Amino acid sequence: MNYDLHKTFQGKRVFLTGHTGFKGSWLLLILKQLGAEVKGFSLAPKNEFDLFYQIKGATLCQSVIGDIRDREIIKREILDFQPDFVFHLAAQALVIDSYINPVETYETNVMGSIYIMDALRQMNKACTTVMITTDKVYENFETTDPYPEDARIGGYDPYSNSKACNELAIGSYRNCFFNPEKYNEHHQAIASARSGNVIGGGDWSANRLVPDIARALRANEAVNIRNPLSVRPWQHVLDPLNGYLMLAAALAENPTGLAEGFNFGPRTNDERTVIDMVKLSIENWGSGSFETPEIIGKPHEAGLLKLAIDKAKQKLDWEPKFDSAEAVKWTMDWYKNSDADPLAFTQNQIETFFGL
Ligand SMILES: NC(=O)c1ccc[n+]([C@@H]2O[C@H](COP(=O)([O-])OP(=O)(O)OC[C@H]3O[C@@H](n4cnc5c(N)ncnc54)[C@H](O)[C@@H]3O)[C@@H](O)[C@H]2O)c1
Repeated sequence: MNYDLHKTFQGKRVFLTGHTGFKGSWLLLILKQLGAEVKGFSLAPKNEFDLFYQIKGATLCQSVIGDIRDREIIKREILDFQPDFVFHLAAQALVIDSYINPVETYETNVMGSIYIMDALRQMNKACTTVMITTDKVYENFETTDPYPEDARIGGYDPYSNSKACNELAIGSYRNCFFNPEKYNEHHQAIASARSGNVIGGGDWSANRLVPDIARALRANEAVNIRNPLSVRPWQHVLDPLNGYLMLAAALAENPTGLAEGFNFGPRTNDERTVIDMVKLSIENWGSGSFETPEIIGKPHEAGLLKLAIDKAKQKLDWEPKFDSAEAVKWTMDWYKNSDADPLAFTQNQIETFFGL
């Protein structure tokens, strides 16, 4: 199976939530390069230097600034637009913030997703939806075995747990309202995508490893590392986004056979420790140092997490194009060299990756 993403998305109406965020800004630019007509729905970007501003995101789409916790607004925006595809990325996406604002995290990640699915119940045209959750939806026993899609859903902290709840809600809506066996009645196909720890240029979030590294190296300061020995499935942002697009393309072609959850992670044994990632980043940057201060009373975060990606390989013919070393190289290249024209630099990375 080789999906022609141009053919799938050219001229199609795509409703993209989270378009002002890190992954959403990249996806917006890719969709535009594939010829889609995009309507974005999100809160305003948090900082003036966010990637959304750097790529002039508001000029690339119909950009709606709104809150997915507002059920009536999200319903109106979806039904007015009548999308062919929905990619739902909007979320409170940070583990640390979920300890500070757990209620808001659940409201956004669980109810926000439910409002989107509920709006889709009222659509009278065929639509293909990919709901973005995370690798953290699995109950994590911190073993070296990678989690396949049918592993038990769990989640320790409010972020992971809210995304696990999100998966359960997606399952219920799919059983009850978007059942593949009754596709000819509702014409809605809905799948979920669980990716690993994503890195790439233009992420400026607080308390995320790569933005912390980029900020420190750009300021000539030592990188401060929270959990040096934690192992994560790191991947370049373009790899999971390619997975989401391939899943949507495949699901549009086969709406009854692929309405399921899919993992998109690095190849087995390409997971790396945090300290490895820091050393690789410094190597790519050309100079820099790091320190690992003892942080008393830090909140629990998973120490080891691996994803099995066999299903995406078998059913979608998807594989990561980059290994972790290449992912770091492309990321550091962005932070080092994109200042003069971030839009052109980001477009160029997309064109090279997708061969556009
Ligand atoms: N970055 C990663 O490593 C990673 C890994 C796995 C999964 N994910 C998932 O991918 C998605 C995108 O992540 P990201 O890294 O781009 O996050 P981000 O924080 O950069 O962006 C989040 C987006 O969601 C929007 N949003 C948040 N609350 C909202 C609300 N109440 N109403 C409307 N919009 C709201 C923000 O405005 C922003 O556009 C999220 O669902 C996240 O859970 C991210």
